[in-house]
Amino acid sequence: MVIQKICCLGAGYVGGPTCSVIALKCPDIKVTVCDKSVDRINQWNSEKLPIYEPGLDDVVKQCRGRNLFFSTDIETSILEADLIFISVNTPTKTIGNGKGRAADLKYIEGAARMIAEIATSNKIVVEKSTVPVKAAEIIMKILRANTKPGVEYQILSNPEFLAEGTAIVDLVEAERVLIGGEETAEGQKAVQDLCWVYEHWIPAKNILTTNTWSSELSKLAANAFLAQRISSINSLSAVCEATGADVSEVARAVGRDSRIGPKFLEASIGFGGSCFQKDILNLIYLSECLNLPEVAAYWQQVVNLNDYQKTRFTRKVIESLFNTVADKKIAILGFSFKKNTGDTRESPAIYVASTLLDEGAKLHIYDPKVEHDQIFYELMHPLVTSEPERIQKGIEIHSSAYSAVSGAHAIVLCTEWDEFKTLDYKKIYEVMMKPAYIFDGRKILDHEALLNIGFHVQTIGKRL
Ligand code: NAD
Ligand code: UGA
Repeated sequence: MVIQKICCLGAGYVGGPTCSVIALKCPDIKVTVCDKSVDRINQWNSEKLPIYEPGLDDVVKQCRGRNLFFSTDIETSILEADLIFISVNTPTKTIGNGKGRAADLKYIEGAARMIAEIATSNKIVVEKSTVPVKAAEIIMKILRANTKPGVEYQILSNPEFLAEGTAIVDLVEAERVLIGGEETAEGQKAVQDLCWVYEHWIPAKNILTTNTWSSELSKLAANAFLAQRISSINSLSAVCEATGADVSEVARAVGRDSRIGPKFLEASIGFGGSCFQKDILNLIYLSECLNLPEVAAYWQQVVNLNDYQKTRFTRKVIESLFNTVADKKIAILGFSFKKNTGDTRESPAIYVASTLLDEGAKLHIYDPKVEHDQIFYELMHPLVTSEPERIQKGIEIHSSAYSAVSGAHAIVLCTEWDEFKTLDYKKIYEVMMKPAYIFDGRKILDHEALLNIGFHVQTIGKRL
C-alpha cells in the first residue's frame, strides 16, 4: 500500500509536532490531526498554537491548509486514512487496580474502538503513545473482534522519542526511528510502508525495525535509562554538598569517558515532565505483574531519589530562611518543567511552590511561557491541596522577573530559562529585602558574581 492519507488521533505535544513534520517532509501525503477537544483543534487552526515549541509555528504555517489539517471530524479522517497514528494520552491510573503506577489505557482503548466502529477499508494502525509492553495486543483484540467483512488491520508500534523544547529538531534530525510489527508477511509489509513515510527525510540506517514487544519495551527502557542518569547525578549532588566536591566537575570528569558520555548529567531540583515518572512507574508495575519484585524495586529507587531531591532542595530553602517562610515574599523564577516549553506537567516547581505555600509563604511567580491560569490550575489542584482558596491568596503571578523579585526575601530559580542568566542582579539586589537569598535550583547563574553583589547563594551539588 502506498500511504496517501494519514490520520492522527490526539493533537497533543506528540501528535501535533510529529504530524506537522511528517506533513512538511512528505508533501505527497495528506495528514489530518484529530482531537476530541474542540478547543484544542481551534487553537491548532488559530494564530496561537496550543503548545509552545521552538520552530513549530513556522512548520505549521508552511503546511496548514496544504497537506496538514487539524480537525474534529474524526469519522471522515479515519474513513479516508491508509494509516492511523494513535497519539492519545496514557496517564498513570488514579483509581482502581494499579492506581498510582499502572498506565491508564482507557484513551488507547477508546481510540481503538473508534477505529473499529468507523473503518470500512484496510488500515495500518500505529501505536505512537507510550504504552506498557503488550498494549498492542489490546488494540489488536478490539480491532480484530470488530472487523467488518473485507477489512484488515495491521498494528505497529512506533514510539516517539522527541523531547519538549527541542521537538522540531528531534523530529527533523531523529537519531533513530523505531518501528515494531508482527513477524508475519503482512506485518512486515506494514512495517515497510511506515518506513517509506519516514524515509522521505530520515536515512534508512537510522530506521530500526523490530518486533512489536521489543519496540514497546525499548520506549520504556529509554526513558528509564535517561531518568536513571538524572537520579544518579542528583544522588551525587547530595554527596558533593556534604563534602565540598562540585557536581559539575564530577559530571565533566565522569562524562568524558566515552562509555558514559557527557549528556544528561545536569544535576537539578529533580526531573519533571509528563513522561519520566509515568513511564518508570509503568515499568515498575509491569515488573511487579511479571513477578519480578527485585526489578521493580530497582527502578522504584529512581523515582524515590527524584522525590528526595525535590524535598532536599525545598528544605534547604526553608532552613536557610531561618526555618520560617510564613508571610515572607518569595520569588519563584520559572514554573515549566524545563526551558523552552510552557508545559508544567509534573514540574518540580509545583512541589517547591506548594510546599512553600503550605509553610505560609507569599509566592510571586514568573515564567516566560506558562499561562497564568495554568499556574493556578497546578497549585490549586485537589491532588496538591485541600485548601484551594487559601492557596490562591498566597500567589501572585507576574509578567516579568523584575516585578516578581521586587521586595522579595528570596529568589528560588526552578527552571533554567536563558533569560534568567542575563538579568541585572545588581538592580535586583537593590530592590530585595536584606539579607537577600538566591537558591539556584538549576546551577545556571554566576555564583561568584552574585556573592560579590552581596547575595546569599545556594545551589545544587556545590557548597558556596
Ligand atoms: P497530550 O495530553 O498533550 O495529548 C493527547 C491528546 O489526545 C489530548 O488532546 C486528548 O484530547 C486526545 N485524545 C484522547 N483520546 C482521544 C480520541 N479517542 N480521539 C482523539 N483524540 C483523543 O499528550 P502528549 O504529551 O501528546 O502524549 C501522548 C502520548 O505520547 C503519551 O503516551 C506520552 O507518554 C507519549 N509521549 C509524549 C512525549 C512528550 O514530550 N509529551 C514524548 C514522547 C512520547
Ligand atoms: C523526555 C525524553 O528526553 C524524550 O526522549 C522522550 O521522548 C520524552 O521524555 C517522553 O517520552 O515524553 P522531556 O520530558 O520532554 O523528554 O524532556 P527532557 O529533556 O528529557 O527533560 C526531562 C526532565 O529532566 C526535565 O525536568 C529536565 O529539566 C530534567 N533534566 C534533564 C535534568 O534534571 N538533568 C538533565 O541532565 C537532563
